[in-house]
Amino acid sequence: RTTGEAYRPAYHFTPPGQWMNDPNGLVYYKGQYHLFYQHYPAGNVWGPMHWGHAVSKDMVHWQDRPIALAPDAHGLIFSGSAVVDWNNASGLGTKANPPLVAIYTYHNEKFKEAGLTYPQSQGIAYSTDAGETWHKYKGNPVLVPPEGKPDFRDPKVMWHPASKSWIMTLAVGDHTEFYRSSDLKSWSFLSAFGKEIGAHGGVWECPDLLPMKVKETGETKWVLIQSLNPGGPNGGSATQYFVGDFDGRDFKLDPKYAAQLSAKGPQWLDWGRDNYAGVTWSDVPKADGRTLMMGWMNNWDYGQVVPTTAWRGAMTLPRELTLHFDGTNYLVKSEPAVEVDRLKGRTYTSVPQTVSEALAVDMPAKSVMQSSIDVQFAKPADGTMAYLELSNDAGDIYKIGYDATANSFFSDRRKSGLVDFSDKFAASVHSAPRNVAADVIDMKVFVDHDSIELFADGGATALTDTLYPRKPYTSLRFVAGGKSVQVLKMQVTELKDAF
Ligand code: FRU
Repeated sequence: RTTGEAYRPAYHFTPPGQWMNDPNGLVYYKGQYHLFYQHYPAGNVWGPMHWGHAVSKDMVHWQDRPIALAPDAHGLIFSGSAVVDWNNASGLGTKANPPLVAIYTYHNEKFKEAGLTYPQSQGIAYSTDAGETWHKYKGNPVLVPPEGKPDFRDPKVMWHPASKSWIMTLAVGDHTEFYRSSDLKSWSFLSAFGKEIGAHGGVWECPDLLPMKVKETGETKWVLIQSLNPGGPNGGSATQYFVGDFDGRDFKLDPKYAAQLSAKGPQWLDWGRDNYAGVTWSDVPKADGRTLMMGWMNNWDYGQVVPTTAWRGAMTLPRELTLHFDGTNYLVKSEPAVEVDRLKGRTYTSVPQTVSEALAVDMPAKSVMQSSIDVQFAKPADGTMAYLELSNDAGDIYKIGYDATANSFFSDRRKSGLVDFSDKFAASVHSAPRNVAADVIDMKVFVDHDSIELFADGGATALTDTLYPRKPYTSLRFVAGGKSVQVLKMQVTELKDAF
């Protein structure tokens, strides 16, 4: 990576150069987290897709590796997943040295000329050197669609012990399909889910089905994570989720979740505009047991024209997801993985006080762009907008806070800096519901050079937005706007470079 490039994140993963979209093949093996990603190595816009590759011991400090998969006669390499084939069911490694198997989509734009009825099919590749080099399977493609299914992509594969099967979750236009296999090479159809359920403002992409323990009851539920584009709550790409049960064949909504869905509408993992196509890590050790996820910090509405040149596209922070149930509603919370704490530097604190105008933190101006901000305040009276304001002397102002009347969080990037590269970038204020009723509002905001991530109320509401200030923000204030707001905590922590 070259240094000094405007907007290059200091602690979020970006490709060394050129275009990146979805995270792919997230798998943990032999002490390393692997991150593959949709990558066009010859340009800074979407183009013939490869899988780029990086490895990390902590999901925070990444080391770039050579490109893992490049297009071949079957097509471009679209999104997919990777698993450790511990028992060598595929026969592509040995029992002593189990293969890593990547399952991905081939996209063939010239399928008609090639005599095919489909543009998208699934292929596999394997590695017997812990992910360093990859070989395509000679029998590819391993799964082709029945006719009439142009969207047939983004396989997420997991081992399902109860049915002793590999289960593939696949995005098929307006629904999800499940397939099973015993060897990762031959796949048979199990069932479909989702037509007319949940949000359908766009095409379904990048699904992920996984078991999660409900924190409050210990019960295991199945969560289906489902990205769609467009149709997100604040426009463009976003990720919804469903809670239910999976018996090895069908995914069915939990009846309480179904009631929640009809009462409250689609449930979103993140309410911001820049967290898309996120999936979870495979093969996280049982002793760890966390559900770990990363998303693409961008939006197809404007992703190809954001004002960066050497590279385009970053990943979100690695996040831990937890599943909660309060007796009526399910909630998937997102928080930064604890490893992010390794970036912590100096801390600056303001004394707790009642604020009527604004409260600044005595801190170095240059630290604003690389910080995490912790603010807690007593739930203010209706009519109050209480927010953090980031600004610079070029007149750019970004606001993120809580709207007491609407009982929701908001992110206002309309005057945040460069916004006119797309008329969809800053068309509106982004809003996210508050999901808990506690008396204290708790906002944790991570600022990097081109983004903010809000984790409110311990991750009960997440909101991720990218930002392109004309100059770095140098001022940070908590604004009460003439109302009286009791601030219980206001603390800023510098975050170190991860690259
Ligand atoms: C999601 C997506 C996937 C597809 C990939 C292509 O962002 O559209 O559905 O596999 O990107 O790069």
